[in-house]
Amino acid sequence: MTSPLDISYAEQTPKSRRQYERAVTSIPAGATRSLNSWSPHPVYLVRGSGTQVTDVDGRVYVDMLNNYTALVLGHADPEVVDAVCRAARGGTSFSFATPQESELAELLRARVPSLQRLRFTGSGTEAAMFAMRLARAHTGRNLIAKVEGGYHGTHDDALVSVRPHPESWGPSTAPTAMPDMAGLPAGCDQRVLVLPFNDGDAAVALLRAHNPRVAAVIVEPILGVGGVIPATKEYLQALREACTALGIVLIFDEVITLRVASGGAQANYEVTPDLTVMGKVIGGGLPIGAYGGRDDLMRQLEPQGGTDVYDARAGGPRLYQGGTFTGNACSLAAGLVTMRRLSPLAHLGLAAKGARLRNELTRRIDRDGLPAHVTGYASLFNIHIGAGVVTTFRDTRRVDPKMQQAFFLGLLNQGFIIAPRGMGCVSTATRDQDIHDFVDAAASVLAQI
Ligand SMILES: Cc1ncc(COP(=O)(O)O)c(C=O)c1O
Repeated sequence: MTSPLDISYAEQTPKSRRQYERAVTSIPAGATRSLNSWSPHPVYLVRGSGTQVTDVDGRVYVDMLNNYTALVLGHADPEVVDAVCRAARGGTSFSFATPQESELAELLRARVPSLQRLRFTGSGTEAAMFAMRLARAHTGRNLIAKVEGGYHGTHDDALVSVRPHPESWGPSTAPTAMPDMAGLPAGCDQRVLVLPFNDGDAAVALLRAHNPRVAAVIVEPILGVGGVIPATKEYLQALREACTALGIVLIFDEVITLRVASGGAQANYEVTPDLTVMGKVIGGGLPIGAYGGRDDLMRQLEPQGGTDVYDARAGGPRLYQGGTFTGNACSLAAGLVTMRRLSPLAHLGLAAKGARLRNELTRRIDRDGLPAHVTGYASLFNIHIGAGVVTTFRDTRRVDPKMQQAFFLGLLNQGFIIAPRGMGCVSTATRDQDIHDFVDAAASVLAQI
């Protein structure tokens, strides 16, 4: 049945409808990212500037998602655009390495002391994939332990128990490894061990029970896709201690959380991983990823004799990294400008805006008895609809999908963008007025649904 919200949305976006009908003939679901297609049809955007984006119908939205947290300075920041144009005029990408790779690497090392050395990749997905591979190669072990609800991109071993269905997720202290996508190789439970989030005793017991088969533990210090739920310090400390004791490589996936502090979430938590995976903000809005950490681990990427990097004859297969556009000039230029602008003060400003948004919205929800709960950390937030109080990943699966979708469409109708699942973030461009208007709009949509 078509709801009044759908009708209002459809009335406001007729050109997006036509664009969808055109797109779907060439592109499954009418969009290249699965997330960007929803019923009755997606919105198609044509430009962005600062906090605002414009769709094909000429409607202007305040963007509270910022390309899923990547655009920490907002859209088309003039300094970033200048740097990208200048870089492009000198050549967009090369067959050989460039000095700019070292410049961004040095900048990141200066901010995140655990990064003794690092490598760039084309995306966060690739960075997480290479970090896991590095851990397997280093330890000679096969199992990757990941957290239930943790997201590390779209490579095979990452797509286990990201959003498992409650019917099959097993006990909370020993979650069942469930494939998240069709088409994955069989036997994910042979390659991936799923740990509960924020239950240190249970997670450590599982690591001990599978010792010595676990190569790495990979964890987001703050679950992103899993509902923007911060880890407790005790949980990350327990993982750190267990990994050290059991010879397991501890990987922090900071693809999202590098935006929470100069040194990433690991600085705030004061827990040091062996490897860190990065992406999003470090490319200033252009494609990028990076992984790095302990020198003895990263050293495996150096040539170890043999005739070329692919030569597998001497001493078995070796680790090498490909990627045609990895370290391209435009991503590095945008990343350098963006990271230089992200001073400790800028991080404090972002965190203050995020806290204000969460506090004001929570006050409205409590005052008016609205069916939502807000989670978050620093500049990040997630609004969960119809799930009651959310403190764990499993709580997020109580969300009412129809209400969550109605909330998303209702906010689009009011001119605000968040993720369909309720995630959002502020950028340095977000103004106090944007936050105030967003809270008003969110409260009014919640009252309607
Ligand atoms: C925590 C985390 N890791 C990895 C990724 C994958 O990054 P990318 O989309 O650049 O491949 C994402 C993307 O959202 C992420 O949130």
